[in-house]
This record gives sequence, structure tokens and C-alpha cells, in this order.
Amino acid sequence: METFYILIINILFSIFAFISTYNIIPRLKDMFVSANLYGKDLNKKSENKIPEAFGVVSGCTFLITMFVLIPIIFGRHILQNDTSLFPHSEFIEMLAALLSICCMLLLGFSDDVLNLRWRHKLLLPTVASLPLLVVYYINFNSTTIIVPKPFRDFLGVSINLGLLYYVYMGMLAVFCTNAINILAGINGLETGQSLVIAISILIFNSIELSGDCAQAHLFSLHFIIPFIAVTFALLKYNWYPSEVFVGDTYCYFAGMTFAVIGILGHFSKTMLLFFIPQIFNFLYSTPQLFHFINCPRHRIPRLDKYGTLSPSYAECNKVNISIIGRMCLKLFSYFKIIHIEEKSDGNIKCNNLTLINLCLILIGPTNEKTLTIILLGIQAVCSMFAFIIRYPLASLFYEV
Ligand code: UD1
Ligand code: MG
Repeated sequence: METFYILIINILFSIFAFISTYNIIPRLKDMFVSANLYGKDLNKKSENKIPEAFGVVSGCTFLITMFVLIPIIFGRHILQNDTSLFPHSEFIEMLAALLSICCMLLLGFSDDVLNLRWRHKLLLPTVASLPLLVVYYINFNSTTIIVPKPFRDFLGVSINLGLLYYVYMGMLAVFCTNAINILAGINGLETGQSLVIAISILIFNSIELSGDCAQAHLFSLHFIIPFIAVTFALLKYNWYPSEVFVGDTYCYFAGMTFAVIGILGHFSKTMLLFFIPQIFNFLYSTPQLFHFINCPRHRIPRLDKYGTLSPSYAECNKVNISIIGRMCLKLFSYFKIIHIEEKSDGNIKCNNLTLINLCLILIGPTNEKTLTIILLGIQAVCSMFAFIIRYPLASLFYEV
């Protein structure tokens, strides 16, 4: 019953966070432009300055909401005189989670201000996830995974991954933060995809609240409800036509929030199921991300003369494409998920390898708003698929 009341208070505070974020954003637009925090909307004809890095506003209202919620979540224990009954481990978990999110928000904002290099974008989330991993080590240090039924004959029932499990969790933080950032560049996509993932997590936690790991899912709910509220407020201004850009600040903040609740909520594998489009986009992007083929600064679609979006292309000199690059291009051509042209000067022209461009190749030129809706639709369908894998199909692989 107490849990129920705390969740109601969380929802009320989150509504307040939504209203605050919704009201603060328009007031800060000019201030951001004056501070040179703006970008040009690359898919519009106008040269307007669009204020950027507004993820910092959502992130701050989120953190404030969480800080105010802490005494409420632990209220009963704080009022008790017996300190030995205080749930120190849960409290530390929450503080470490907030520290990691706060760190990532700061690092994301630095990225927007300083335009960091790609290697820093990989390093920073690893560093920001360290407090989390230390708490995981102190509180659980459970690094054993259950082997799926079909592999048990040769791997056994469970494997202790030891240090490798910590490497996996560190990489999860790097993946979540960057995966959202590279599936971006059209109005409303960063916030929209985060909202769909967050709602999927909310549904999953609500279902699992009556299960064996209720405490871990309650922990996740305490984070995800305010996150949905602040994201929804930001989406209102980031939706087509964008009045503000969310910046890397938001992508890192959202990614770290997901990583934190996946790790400390003990459902990192299920959480990755909600990232199916991002995983596909990452794998599809690898030839460009690892520079096997040319990767331009922006890979977003280009505005064509009809006012619709068409795929953008990267040009490479055939000689400069590495063997791995050639193999990737062959593989993508085999599955017909790439558009390649060989030019008369011997150069190769292929679409920039993002899910956004792939959609445009498959459906043809589309206006920006429709494209965002289609991509969010794909995200929602993938979430439904994730639930099918997690529930009916899971019994094929595990005892559930
Ligand atoms: C990542 C992508 C890059 C993509 C960019 C778009 C990789 C390796 N990098 O780079 O290909 O072009 O995100 O966010 O995949 N913008 C718009 N409309 C939007 C959102 C952003 O035109 O709806 C433009 C604005 O000019 C804005 C800029 O993108 O200033 C932000 O880009 P930034 O976040 O700095 O790019 P990266 O994250 O480095
Ligand atoms: Mg970005």
C-alpha cells in the first residue's frame, strides 16, 4: 500500500516536472542563442538559429524531481529512530544512479559546447558509469548468467562471467548513450524514440511489479516516470517543426538513464530488446563509424527540390575502401539494404548507412514529419516484438 502511495506522489511530482519543463523551455530560447548554443535546421530552407542543447533543461528538472523524491521514497525509514533498519544499499544505489546520470548530463552539455571528438564520446560514458559499477560490485557482485536451454549441453546451466560482466555493463552505458545520438537528425526523433523506449520500460516494470523482483522494478519506475514527464515536455518543442534542438546533452542523459535502470533494475537484456532499431542502426552504421568507408560529419537525409527528404550519400575513392569495407558493402548489397552507384571517375557513391536513410530508400522521398512518425512506428512495433520475445518466447530458452 505504501508503495502505491509513493508511486502516486511520484506521478504528481512528475506532472509538476512536466509543467515546469514545458514553461521554462520557451523562456530560455533567446538566452541559449545569445550564448551561441544554436544550430541550423539542415532540413529546412530557412536560416533560422534553432537553440540547441535543451536536454540540459529536461535533465535538470528530472534531477530536481528525483532529489525531492528521495526523502519521500525513504521517508518511512528516515522517520524511524533505528538507523540499523535503514536500507543503506538501496539508498546508495539511488545516489549512484543519480550521480552517473548527472555526470552524463554534464559531459553531454560539454560536448554541445565544445564539440568533442568521437573518441571522447566513447570514453565519457565509460567514466560516468563507474560509480554505478562500483555500487553494483558492492551490493550484488552477481556476474553469473543463466545459459539458454539450447546451449546447456556444452556450456552448462550457468556461467560466471566475472570481470567480463563489468565490461559488458560499461559497454552498455556507451552503447545506450551513443545509440540514440546516431539515430538522430530529423525533428523529434531523439525525444520520440526515447519516449517510446521509456513507455515500454514503464509497461514492463508495471507488469513485473507483482513478480519476484518487485523491488528492482519499483526502483526503475521511480526513475522512468519523471523521465517520461520531462521528455514529453521537451518533445512538444522538438517536434516538427522544431523550435529547439535537444543536443547531445539529451541523448547522453536519456541513454545513461536507460543504462542505469537496466543495470540496477537487473533487466539489462530485456532493456536491450527495446533498443532493436538502435542496435540495427548501429550495426548498419559500423562501416562508417569505424571508417571502413567515408563518414561525413552529418549523415542525415537531405532536403530535395520538392521539399521532401531524400537519402544522403557518401562518396569514396574505390582504392580507399578497406577489405572489411568492401565485404560490408557486398553483404548489404546482397540483402538489398544499400543503394550503391559506381561513378565514371571510379568513385563509389553509397547512401549514408543509417536507418533513417534506409527507410527513405525503401519508401521513397517523404516529408520530415511523416518520416519521424514512420521511424517512431517502427520503434513501437519493435517494442511489441520485444514483449513477445520476453514473454511467450522466453519459455523456449529459460524456465519462466
Ligand atoms: C550525429 C550523427 C550525424 C547526424 C547528427 C544529427 C553519426 C556518426 N553522427 O552526430 O550523422 O547528422 O547526429 O543530430 O551518426 N539537426 C537538424 N535537425 C534535427 C536535429 C539536428 O538539422 O532535428 C542538426 C542541427 O544542425 C544540429 C546538429 O544536427 O545543430 C546536431 O548535430 P550533433 O548532435 O552535433 O551531431 P553528432 O551527434 O556529432
Ligand atoms: Mg548529436
